[in-house]
Amino acid sequence: MGETLSSVIDKLQATTDYPQLFFEAYGDSVITGQHFLKALSQFQLTLVSSNSKYDRVIAGKEMFTEQEQKGYELFKNKCASCHSEPLFTNGQFENNGLPLDSNLKDYGRMEISMNKNDAQKFKVPTLRNIQFSFPYMHDGRFKKLSDVLAHYNRGIEVSTTLSEELKQPLNLTSENQVEIISFLMTLTDKSFLFNPDFAYPRK
Ligand code: HEC
Repeated sequence: MGETLSSVIDKLQATTDYPQLFFEAYGDSVITGQHFLKALSQFQLTLVSSNSKYDRVIAGKEMFTEQEQKGYELFKNKCASCHSEPLFTNGQFENNGLPLDSNLKDYGRMEISMNKNDAQKFKVPTLRNIQFSFPYMHDGRFKKLSDVLAHYNRGIEVSTTLSEELKQPLNLTSENQVEIISFLMTLTDKSFLFNPDFAYPRK
């Protein structure tokens, strides 16, 4: 986010809540980089979403509807090479055929690696809780999952770095697109999203 660690720490130190919270955790209300990073990493390690309908189906505790099951089959065929189970990302950088944004002109991975083969490649994001994480893509260009499906179905821009899997049209009917979306909704984990431990610190 273009910030520096020391400036973040200055900001935290100036708040009313955090010096006290640091005192409670570490016995010292002077915030240091080490305490800040320890607190942040411990918190992030608790952010595990594993109680979606999808997880319960995989654990044999629940069943998909017919529509969700069809969506799951389509997903495994058309999407899972990048959005691989169980995290719904393969952790790689890929070009998923988005036309370059004319304002931002963000070339993604290439801006860091300076390698032309990385042009328009972006980190494959997880699709867990995707129903609640709109707008979609690195620049938030799509508001709805139906826009995303329409992109994959007929909005793919062919370029030299486009991923192999997306070079052939996906040929999804509008019914298929609804089926995939109904599968994606099974990745919603409300016990994770609305866990009060993950909300702003309580006073
Ligand atoms: C070749 C790899 C690849 C394939 C295949 C692929 N995706 Fe993606 N997907 C990506 C990448 C990379 C991004 C992130 C692009 C960006 O940040 O602009 C993405 C982003 C998304 C997003 C938005 C995520 C967010 O948090 O903004 C959704 C939803 C999505 N894909 C769904 C699908 C579905 C559904 C399919 C199958 C029809 C699919 N993807 C197939 C690579 C892929």
